[in-house]
Amino acid sequence: MTIFPRIKINGIVFALLIMFIGLQFKSILHTISVVEVKVLFPLIRLVQIAIVSLFPTDHSLYPTQANVQDSQTFDFIIVGAGSAGCVLANRLTEVSDWNVLLIEAGDDPPTASLIPGLSVIVAAALPDWNFFTVDDGYSSQGLKTKTIHNRRGKMLGGSSGTNFMFYVRGNQKDYDRWAQEGNEGWNWDNVTTYFRKSEKIKDESIIKSDAANLHGSEGFLTVTQPAWGDVTKDYLNAFREQGHDILLDYNGHQQLGYGMSSFTSDEKTRQNTANAFLSPIKNRKNLHVLKNTLVRKILVNKNKRAIGIEARHPGGQIIKLNARNEVILSAGAINTPQLLMLSGIGPKDHLEEMKIDIVLDSPNVGQNMQDHALVPILISGKKKFLSLLDNIKPLGETSRFPMASFLGFVALNKSQGYPDYQITAIPTPTAALLPPLLCSDTFSVKDNSIIVIADETQTRGALFSLVTHLHPKSRGSIKLRSTNPEDSPLIYSGYFSNEDDLEDFAKYIEDYITVINTTYFKEIEAEVIDLKVDECVAFTFGSHEYWRCYVLNLATTQYHAVSACRMGVEGQGVVDERLRVRGVEGLRIVDASVMPSLTSGNTNAPVIMIAEKASDMIKEDHSINLGPENK
Ligand SMILES: Cc1cc2nc3c(=O)[nH]c(=O)nc-3n(C[C@H](O)[C@H](O)[C@H](O)COP(=O)(O)OP(=O)(O)OC[C@H]3O[C@@H](n4cnc5c(N)ncnc54)[C@H](O)[C@@H]3O)c2cc1C
Ligand SMILES: *[C@@H]1O[C@H](CO)[C@@H](O)[C@H](O)[C@H]1NC(C)=O
Ligand SMILES: *[C@@H]1O[C@H](CO)[C@@H](O)[C@H](O)[C@H]1NC(C)=O
Ligand SMILES: *[C@@H]1O[C@H](CO)[C@@H](O)[C@H](O)[C@H]1NC(C)=O
Repeated sequence: MTIFPRIKINGIVFALLIMFIGLQFKSILHTISVVEVKVLFPLIRLVQIAIVSLFPTDHSLYPTQANVQDSQTFDFIIVGAGSAGCVLANRLTEVSDWNVLLIEAGDDPPTASLIPGLSVIVAAALPDWNFFTVDDGYSSQGLKTKTIHNRRGKMLGGSSGTNFMFYVRGNQKDYDRWAQEGNEGWNWDNVTTYFRKSEKIKDESIIKSDAANLHGSEGFLTVTQPAWGDVTKDYLNAFREQGHDILLDYNGHQQLGYGMSSFTSDEKTRQNTANAFLSPIKNRKNLHVLKNTLVRKILVNKNKRAIGIEARHPGGQIIKLNARNEVILSAGAINTPQLLMLSGIGPKDHLEEMKIDIVLDSPNVGQNMQDHALVPILISGKKKFLSLLDNIKPLGETSRFPMASFLGFVALNKSQGYPDYQITAIPTPTAALLPPLLCSDTFSVKDNSIIVIADETQTRGALFSLVTHLHPKSRGSIKLRSTNPEDSPLIYSGYFSNEDDLEDFAKYIEDYITVINTTYFKEIEAEVIDLKVDECVAFTFGSHEYWRCYVLNLATTQYHAVSACRMGVEGQGVVDERLRVRGVEGLRIVDASVMPSLTSGNTNAPVIMIAEKASDMIKEDHSINLGPENK
């Protein structure tokens, strides 16, 4: 790997830059005002952009740009080289007779995105589709933007190159439910085979545990669980005192409880699906990768068979490419429904309204979107005066997620077996920059609350937590803004359109914050910090009404949009249980949009599993012998 010497040199420049902004930030903080926040954060954004461009992309790590001719034919065309697309490209090119074309709108991932800790700090400057939800005048009104910035990675590796790397499979019952709803072959036992197949677990304690049989050691995706020593011990003990189980591995036999985070990282390099699944096979003769190329449309013939795609080549010309066997859409939860509708496959009324020729009336395209809403909760920790050391480590580590973190999966009624809410907890030392930075540029919290967060984290350690409502009843949707493939679609979050979600979410927060009454939290005089949310001043801080107001106004996305082209039985599913688009031959969808419903956790590992499983289904459907290792 040639990137490392370069990282060392740039690392020094980087450290200087970060120290500079870190120190500036901290010295201003004591008397920080809204004006200063308004100056500071744009400045930080500039530094983030500078850092990303400082590290040149190492193109030698990835497949080279394919040289294709207009109307060339391939056996398979995969649209989108994200979490799913790269896995498919790897597995399908195992069949040496198949010529596979993988098309991606973005370029190779920037080097800064490969450095685990750094990528979290500069996340806002990584290549992104810049999607925003439609302002519904109701939810998320307390955010700076009043709409939600729905980030999506635009690069080889897709969102796995810009995400926060948490490796979470979800709960057994999630998948058993998929199967019960009529999606044969998707129960927990079925999918475990493919989680295992994709994974290369590197954690000794997990390998030696009773959950070892659930993990894989020969897959392409390296998974590690960084050790953080004592940093989290007191916090985890507090949750234990409350009766929660402390887990070695939440991806093991039991998910309910609290435990240290596992990551798609080898503790030097992020494992996006491009470097995990494409780099090792980049020289395969039958793999063709077309980057910086936007697919505009799927071409469907009179017999309702997908025969190819239309795309904008980097040179600007519009080309058509043919698929002999299948076109596979892996453009992600938002772009896949958009592409279907642009191609005339979608709800009849909407297509008519957009004056698009109808190829197939498929009423569920773009519907039933689900997403994980989250809100930040700051619990202050130990009081501490700044030392010199605090001043030079404002950001944490770069080789892994920058600060210790642990996850919690909690059910209000334990006997239901699956969690209602997830906690992503980051214990931060005094003067950490991460909480205000994340709240500002990832969670779009308003400046007056950022000031509170910055002030609190200046003088005390903190438990910075994100609370996620795992199984919302509300549904969002995707519609076309225009017939121009270069335009972003309309994204309706649908957050809290079902009242129950508001009530449940408030209860989850109330349940979570009871932890401040445990021995350790009392000892450090912990308190839940009032972020002074403008919209909620009418309510007593901490009251039930207050928390309802808080979640309604501060909810943003954990970037887990799924289900807008969901798999399901006839009449419900856009795709069947083999992920074939119902009503069109030769067209499959393999990405987050096919999930029948949200899993109990982050969505990257499940999407990778879906792509592994889909690869086998595609091989089976084309009579390729799978070989013993798959069974
Ligand atoms: C900021 C962020 C943080 C996250 N954190 C986590 C986390 O910590 N853990 C976790 O498990 N999950 C996380 N997720 C979610 C997870 O990464 C996604 O669910 C997952 O990557 C989705 O995979 P996908 O294959 O469906 O789509 P993507 O990975 O988004 O892939 C879609 C690809 O298609 C390309 N594409 C789209 N349209 C076209 C077109 N018309 N032509 C050509 N190419 C196109 C895109 O550029 C992209 O590369 C996060 C996501 C984000 C954005
Ligand atoms: C997967 O699911 C199918 C259909 O439900 C079942 O027949 C099969 O035995 C399962 N396979 C595994 C490995 O669990
Ligand atoms: C808790 O869950 C169990 C199992 O699903 C259920 O039987 C029971 O009624 C639930 N209890 C409450 C109080 O909801
Ligand atoms: C902590 O305990 C006190 C005293 O029993 C109680 O009034 C308070 O509501 C508790 N706080 C939380 C967040 O549960």
